[in-house]
Amino acid sequence: MKKILDLITDEVVKAFEASELDVKYAKVSLSNRPDLCEYQCNGAMAAAKEYKKAPIMIAGQVAEKLQDSTVFEMVEAVNPGFINLKLSKEYLAQYVEEMAKDSERLGCEKTAEPRTIMIDYGGPNVAKPLHVGHLRSAIIGESIKRIGKFMGHNMIGDVHLGDWGLQMGLIITELKERKPELVYFDENYEGEYPAEAPFTISELEEIYPTASGKSKEDEAYKEAAMQATYELQHGRRGYQALLSHILDVSVTDLKRNYENLNVSFELWKGESDAQPYIPDMVQKMKEDGFAYISDGALVVDVKEDTDTKEIPPCMILKSDGASLYNTTDLATIVWRMKDYHPDELIYVVDKRQELYFTQVFRCARKTGLVSEDTELKFLGFGTMNGKDGKPFKTREGGVMRLETLIASINEEMYKKIQDNRTMPEEEARETAKVVALSAVKYGDLSNQASKDYIFDIDRFTSFEGNTGPYILYTIVRIKSILNKYQESGKNVAEEIILPAHSDSEKALMLELVKFNAMMENAFEEIAPHKVCSYIYDLSNALNHFYHETKIMTEEDTQVQASYIRLLELTKRTLEVCIDVLGFSAPDRM
Ligand code: ARG
Repeated sequence: MKKILDLITDEVVKAFEASELDVKYAKVSLSNRPDLCEYQCNGAMAAAKEYKKAPIMIAGQVAEKLQDSTVFEMVEAVNPGFINLKLSKEYLAQYVEEMAKDSERLGCEKTAEPRTIMIDYGGPNVAKPLHVGHLRSAIIGESIKRIGKFMGHNMIGDVHLGDWGLQMGLIITELKERKPELVYFDENYEGEYPAEAPFTISELEEIYPTASGKSKEDEAYKEAAMQATYELQHGRRGYQALLSHILDVSVTDLKRNYENLNVSFELWKGESDAQPYIPDMVQKMKEDGFAYISDGALVVDVKEDTDTKEIPPCMILKSDGASLYNTTDLATIVWRMKDYHPDELIYVVDKRQELYFTQVFRCARKTGLVSEDTELKFLGFGTMNGKDGKPFKTREGGVMRLETLIASINEEMYKKIQDNRTMPEEEARETAKVVALSAVKYGDLSNQASKDYIFDIDRFTSFEGNTGPYILYTIVRIKSILNKYQESGKNVAEEIILPAHSDSEKALMLELVKFNAMMENAFEEIAPHKVCSYIYDLSNALNHFYHETKIMTEEDTQVQASYIRLLELTKRTLEVCIDVLGFSAPDRM
């Protein structure tokens, strides 16, 4: 469906044409004085200069031409030269009805040019539990992916596991100390390795920090870990078998954790998958004359003349020939291009890595790893802080496990739900989880991603104000009205939506019709927070309408049916929006 703003503009364009004025002045926008009008056109001011007339004259002329338009119920020229517009109730109702007929997409068309977009928003490290630092990329990335899918793009999420480097050698070393008899350590062993891992996830999560601690104190231990890493990376069979066990156990656990967040990835690739591409990539960078030795290391210059601050060279190999975080990210670009030919690569990573990604992107472009029309985008997010304004920590000052955080919010939510009303234990637990997830996700997504925010459980879990639970509460309220309506023997019918009967009903319709433009814009600007502010406004409009209107006792059945259909559409719209944000609503709460 054409966007309402475009339809309105078309109408105003005709009036400019009829007045023999350049149509470039006919642009319409949402009113910034909702007390006076719904939409406005400010073009008369600029046109006045060109035509050397008073702006109010021009505005008046255009307004005159619009008096008979069926699109508007009010067109007013006001000083100094604004054209104030109010939509006709009939026209608005027709548009809303068209939306309601399109129950899947609510009038939002898919893109005519689908792009393949790969999005990197995981970055968890194998053998280490997910912690709050991973929460933001998961929440934001998942939402961007869903918004893109809704708009019809081919979105591919990649978890990009941190599964390469010293951490693996550390685990192997510690395991060897504890269980030297394991067959993985026998260099002469040539048989099959056991299918079962020699550790559980909780053991693994304990082994890693222990090993990491030891290596900081004990030089020989660290040497051994480095040696194990080297041997692993150079194909020692037993160690590679251990690596697959570490990966299996870890990935199973990670998947479970991400699932609880309603987050999923199309690809479960890791840093290790990029390693095979490194030698050829480096070779080519050298041959093409981009990479050169500086202080023993292999680097590529990435500074540009227009830089206002110093951008250091991108390091490709360390002086001992070892690869780095950079090397892996570059080689990852190689296979992503080769296997998927993406039009765009989006990285959702902590904004403190911005300089790093500037280097990587420039290096990838300069050395031709990406084709010219592939866009590289860095979406850096801010820090999640505690109430003290400092990065979120446990009470003891440590990094909080994601599971612990989620469990405590679930508990908080459960208490609230039990306070409100009693439902069976099992349902209350399930509902608490659903609502808690909305609290965490909405709390995060309603902020512009690049900003820091304060993680405030009390505020996020509140049923009032700009929160996830408030949005769900609104949906649940609608569901309950729809149920009552159906129970009264009536059908959520084929009746059509009638022109608004009140200001609050019209206000609700005016919010609804913004949907398609809002979604398009949220995608273009990679901005889930725009979806949040939209559903907050929409929920407010709905609740206002609800308080002002007797719906269940309305005697005119046609009017009542129209209300119901409007509610149903509002519910659908909210549901589509929360779905792209990555959460859902319960049936009651
Ligand atoms: N594993 C990294 C970390 O824990 C994050 C990875 C971000 N993604 C990337 N392609 N570099 O910091």
